[in-house]
Amino acid sequence: MQAGGKANGNGTGKGTGDGDLTSVSHGPVRGVILAAGQGKRMKSSLPKVLHDVFGKAVISRVVEAVAAAGTDIEHLHVVVGHASDQVEGFLKQNNPPTAYSCHLQEPQLGTGHALLQVAPALGDFKGTLIVTVGDAPVIQAESLKALLDHHHATRGVVTALTTELLDAKNYGRILRDYEGRVRGIVEDKDATSEQKLIKEINTGIYALAWPEAAEGLKGLSNNNKQNEYYLTDLVAWAYEHGHGAQALVLNDSRQVAGINSRLELAEAIRLLRDITIEKLSLQSGVTVVDPQSTWISPEVEIGAETIILPGCYLTGAIKIGRNCQIGPNVLMKGPVTVGDRTVIVSSHLANSKIGSDTRVGPFAHVRDGNEVGDFCKIGNFVELKKADIGQHTNVGHLSYIGDASLGSNVNIGAGTITANYDHITKKKDRTVIGDGASTGSNSVLVAPVEMGAESVLAAGTVVGKNVPPGALAVGRAVLKILDGWAGARKAKK
Ligand code: UD1
Ligand code: CA
Repeated sequence: MQAGGKANGNGTGKGTGDGDLTSVSHGPVRGVILAAGQGKRMKSSLPKVLHDVFGKAVISRVVEAVAAAGTDIEHLHVVVGHASDQVEGFLKQNNPPTAYSCHLQEPQLGTGHALLQVAPALGDFKGTLIVTVGDAPVIQAESLKALLDHHHATRGVVTALTTELLDAKNYGRILRDYEGRVRGIVEDKDATSEQKLIKEINTGIYALAWPEAAEGLKGLSNNNKQNEYYLTDLVAWAYEHGHGAQALVLNDSRQVAGINSRLELAEAIRLLRDITIEKLSLQSGVTVVDPQSTWISPEVEIGAETIILPGCYLTGAIKIGRNCQIGPNVLMKGPVTVGDRTVIVSSHLANSKIGSDTRVGPFAHVRDGNEVGDFCKIGNFVELKKADIGQHTNVGHLSYIGDASLGSNVNIGAGTITANYDHITKKKDRTVIGDGASTGSNSVLVAPVEMGAESVLAAGTVVGKNVPPGALAVGRAVLKILDGWAGARKAKK
């Protein structure tokens, strides 16, 4: 996959604007995200930009890509309109990585009109605006950076990011003049049947020189099929005024996927998955055995030589070390960290830390707030919740370990339960098990309770008192063995 593509539309529009172009503003960079539209085609009460794309809202993915497009993005302007309270509230709660402000567009009269709403706040800002539609969540920061670089290198006033699609469906089509220079964009709804055959499309992402582009913005008309002020018309304005309309063609057309319906949302998630797996494979040295059945979100970091087996679904802030084997069929919801050389098979993990050289599963449920050390074994049908586990400790089979601290070299027998919940006080209490201690099969630790180091719990014991270090606790009904009982019973009948 490539971030940037071939530069295209070189040359500087028609006319002789070269003299002007040397003074074009390129200084500091600000981002503008257009997110005021309703997204009718989603058929949803939730604003389109708040829909979830692999663990993050559409708008968050766009905001993060723009914020990461350069080291010098000083501010983000977000245009809100439809359900603006919800979108603004969401941003406030999720705190974008760069300083931002919201600008109300009411009513929503098109993408050009949307950008106009930001103009007053720009004051006497002189520099570059990177403007993007709010509904293209697959875009990668490196592509936005390539757009900025191209815009600065060609000294353009308006530089559009374009790409070629086999099925250009509803996108705006790029019009070029006889010399191949970009001369305009025609929306699908306004396009002639001939123009509809054009494969090069508008991604809805542009770099603009400000305040130069402001003049073109003011002159936009809504004389089109949708009676909207189209931002896309800025390109024709720049071409016609000798301002050098430019375009950068993105090789990787997957990144521009705009989501207008739920089907396109699903498609965007799939594309994001494909791009992520490609990066992990090609850049990080990770083996993903079956990319089609594996879902890994962009936030996931995986070390070299780790193998991801089929059927895994990994989302959120996940960090997996080197030489691990994950899967088949592992569900991981970040934050999760996994050390090196750890093997996790057919298990569910969320909000937990797993050490190195540890084995988890098959069929373990490591559900919340756990910290498992190195060289441990968390076996089949084991549930861990808020468990702190030292090194070389085994919880091999059929156990619930909740609100518990287990030291190192502890052995938990099959079927051991920490009874952490008092249903009358509705309080949860902790169980503490010291280094080298062991519990027999089918034992119950009624919390709060503590087992000292090297202490032993006999199989079948229910312990509600602290066990001193090195002690044996046995608590079972006395075993009686009646010799010859079976024969005697038969004779009776
Ligand atoms: C737009 C482009 C099209 C491009 C496509 C890429 C225009 C006129 N068309 O079309 O060339 O191929 O994106 O995905 O720009 N918005 C506002 N205020 C408005 C209208 C829209 O903020 O008044 C926002 C929307 O919230 C959305 C974005 O702008 O995030 C694009 O709007 P949308 O209606 O989806 O435009 P498209 O028809 O997809
Ligand atoms: Ca769109």
